[in-house]
Amino acid sequence: MELYEVLKRRKTCRDFLNKDVNISVIKRIIDAGLKAPTHNHLREWEFIVLHTAEEKTKALQFTQESVEQFKKNHPIDSWPDKTIQQKMYKYAVPRQYTMLFNAPYVIIPLFKAKSLKAESVDQLNAFASIWCVIENIFLATTAEGLAYSMSVPIGEEGKKVCKELGVPTDYIMSLFIGIGYADNKAPDIEQHTFTPNEKIHFGKW
Ligand SMILES: Cc1cc2nc3c(=O)[nH]c(=O)nc-3n(C[C@H](O)[C@H](O)[C@H](O)COP(=O)(O)O)c2cc1C
Repeated sequence: MELYEVLKRRKTCRDFLNKDVNISVIKRIIDAGLKAPTHNHLREWEFIVLHTAEEKTKALQFTQESVEQFKKNHPIDSWPDKTIQQKMYKYAVPRQYTMLFNAPYVIIPLFKAKSLKAESVDQLNAFASIWCVIENIFLATTAEGLAYSMSVPIGEEGKKVCKELGVPTDYIMSLFIGIGYADNKAPDIEQHTFTPNEKIHFGKW
């Protein structure tokens, strides 16, 4: 698929078909991730790949708990859905667990870093590098005709997942990426879009 077509088609998916994906495709997608730029020339990235229900249950238990707790405390039916953003949250929040569990594969990209504390952007280079990896994964997934979901762990969730999965303490989890075939019956929720002319400031702001 041509690059600009991939960029146009990429979107976050939250409803997957019950259809498996070949592991060789997952490896190609991770290989695309490994081609990302790296701030310290070391590509200190690792990937946990979850496939079985047992593996996903173990890694996603904290996500499931917080989604259930959240739904109990904030009945979604009473949420406002006037703005594009409100509509998006109302659709996405109840799916934070299923959009991962129902994806045949879940990838957890990890990056080597001592801490996430920073006072200037350069101190976030390890974090920035893993997000270059992640975007490559998103685009490669799209180019393969597949779809992805993404969930960033909240608060201590990432540390708990890493402990559960035996990740060395000098690695940090970036997010969960679910990969599978999109259920095309899912609603297409409107997004904010912009043209370059609306966003470019030539010479100065
Ligand atoms: C840094 C970052 C964190 C995100 N975290 C989540 C998340 O936890 N759960 C989720 O469903 N989507 C998450 N998203 C996806 C956004 O909701 C999505 O990108 C946005 O609605 C725009 O839609 P699009 O990706 O289809 O263009 C995240 C996106 C980014 C860039």
